[in-house]
Amino acid sequence: MTTVHELATPAGPDDPDLAALLDAEHEVLADVWGHHDFVQTARERWGQLSDDRDDRLITLVVRDGRDVLGYAQLEVPTRGNEHLLYVDLAVRPGHRRHGLGSALWDATLDVARREGRGTVFAGIDQRTEPVDGPGTLAPATGSGRVDGDQPGVRFAAGRGLGLEQVDRYSVLHVPLAPEVLAAHHEGAAAVADADYQVVTWVDRCPDEWVDGLAVLEQAMGTDAPLGGLDLREEPWDAARVRRMEQRRATSGQRTLTAGAVHRATGTLAAFTQLVLGSRPDFGWQHDTLVRADHRGHRLGMLVKAANLAQLAEQAPRIRRVGTWNAEENAHMLAINVALGFAPSGGSSSWQRRL
Ligand SMILES: CC(C)(COP(=O)(O)OP(=O)(O)OC[C@H]1O[C@@H](n2cnc3c(N)ncnc32)[C@H](O)[C@@H]1OP(=O)(O)O)[C@@H](O)C(=O)NCCC(=O)NCCS
Repeated sequence: MTTVHELATPAGPDDPDLAALLDAEHEVLADVWGHHDFVQTARERWGQLSDDRDDRLITLVVRDGRDVLGYAQLEVPTRGNEHLLYVDLAVRPGHRRHGLGSALWDATLDVARREGRGTVFAGIDQRTEPVDGPGTLAPATGSGRVDGDQPGVRFAAGRGLGLEQVDRYSVLHVPLAPEVLAAHHEGAAAVADADYQVVTWVDRCPDEWVDGLAVLEQAMGTDAPLGGLDLREEPWDAARVRRMEQRRATSGQRTLTAGAVHRATGTLAAFTQLVLGSRPDFGWQHDTLVRADHRGHRLGMLVKAANLAQLAEQAPRIRRVGTWNAEENAHMLAINVALGFAPSGGSSSWQRRL
């Protein structure tokens, strides 16, 4: 019989259980993706684990001695979305089809019930997104496809999870030629420039924008298309922004932000963030949002072009930037495609109500 253990919260980045978990995770990621851009170091993961005031992380494992053969990493939101639990569940490639995944899933449901969570979300990565055709599945949005024969898809469907959304993963090779970047910037600035001023910062948001940034972060949770996912607005304030900054600092991550300030009112109307972790040549294009009452002024392109210019200055060794977008998020995808982001796989989001 397979035994599932709950790992104690690591004592620090050097915790041997954390190292064993990351070994398993790295093998799973290499198997799905064939590259190492998503690999996190123990220090990066420790930063996320070091403060549970917004999300608690619970890790379930099946072990052989110290080795982790399979894991379910559960994220339990504690500030909003308290009906939810996210699970990242995987088994090392050499240990599949022996019931480990099922045992981890059953233990996940036990934790969900214990925590009073009525909805479970799971994600499944895919190295390439299939074109529409026999054997593919689509969510109700009609956007994006998954291969119905993929082991993760069969596993999820067999456990009563429903396909709700497909995300595209895209990669941009950087630095862009300065004249290309300037053309993107000028095209957007020609529409926006008289009314908006671009501001940039590294890591800590200046005090004058932090309340505005909290408003944008709060909108970020529900303004992007959600497919059929039961995600609800979470409360954000300046203190929550500061906690996120502190977690990233503990992780050793750097954050580059570009914003657009509406000159007439002083409102932070848009922002975008690049997050740089331990990979020397890879970074993440993170959140981008334009406030609903400031859309239609090319602010999305304006802040993204400004931040890519900031990236070239601040982190010239970065060669690839990766980003995730819902396949139905036509406006954001249009900006990314115009910048040169190319499809490079994706993931699907699944939901089950208990
Ligand atoms: C999906 C995954 C977790 C399954 O782990 P596992 O230990 O092989 O799962 P189990 O042995 O408990 O299999 C449970 C059922 O899933 C289905 N399944 C799993 N792998 C399958 C495959 N390759 N082909 C067809 N069905 C498969 C079967 O119905 C299986 O039952 P069966 O073995 O009695 O036929 C594993 O393939 C994996 O880690 N994939 C990458 C990460 C991922 O996709 N996670 C999904 C999160 S929802």
